[in-house]
Amino acid sequence: MSVKRRKAAPDELLSRSRIRPAEKADSSPMDALLQPNAHYLDRLMRRQSFQALWPLFAHATKPAKELTESFSALVHLRPYLKRYPKVRVLHIGDGAHARTGALFALKTRAENISIDPVTNQQLIQDWINNFQIERLSAIRQRAEDAIPSLANQEKLPTMLTFVHAHVDTDAVIGALSEVADVKAAFVLGCCQPGKQFSSRYPITHEGEDEGVLSPDRHFQVIEPQQELGE
Ligand SMILES: C[S@@+](CC[C@H](N)C(=O)[O-])C[C@H]1O[C@@H](n2cnc3c(N)ncnc32)[C@H](O)[C@@H]1O
Repeated sequence: MSVKRRKAAPDELLSRSRIRPAEKADSSPMDALLQPNAHYLDRLMRRQSFQALWPLFAHATKPAKELTESFSALVHLRPYLKRYPKVRVLHIGDGAHARTGALFALKTRAENISIDPVTNQQLIQDWINNFQIERLSAIRQRAEDAIPSLANQEKLPTMLTFVHAHVDTDAVIGALSEVADVKAAFVLGCCQPGKQFSSRYPITHEGEDEGVLSPDRHFQVIEPQQELGE
């Protein structure tokens, strides 16, 4: 059976593969969004929730880069999140500030767990308390080492984010699939593409996300339970 490709949401259309100028017949407002653009940043900054997000991103060297990388994960996984009344998202390699987990906690109904060996538990707990955040927790461990504690969680449909995570994505998906019902995963790769991008699992969407304000904007959406096509 080949991998089914579902109709893309408008946000995804905007984030699809790069169109080179030579391929354009003419220029339209849509074309502007098929080049690196501040669309995600504008959407984030127009919302009340930006006030809560800002403390976690303000001290980043490049806050616009970090915000748009995390938002890309949200845009690409939101269609999957909507399929389930109760869903969990594991944010692998989410850094000290659990920024992608925090964004999902503010913008979705999902239960979020950020997993990174450098997680700053105190900073995240202070942020949760200050803004009365629900459905975010953090595990200060490597993803591989967090498997036993994840195995004890209530079984839920599960999504994964790998936002510039320095991990072997296929190995982590394989290990997590032993203890969780992994429906979809989003990968944004950076300096270790051979390790970060999947070569084992079915890819539903792949391309350059021009809403990500960083040169490392190549992404994959993976559905591990789909059968690989011939
Ligand atoms: C480039 S940083 C990305 C951090 C964050 N996602 C961001 O975009 O700001 C890579 C992260 O991968 C984490 N990492 C490395 N090995 C890991 C592992 N085995 N499990 C989970 N996270 C890991 C590192 O601690 C680091 O925080």
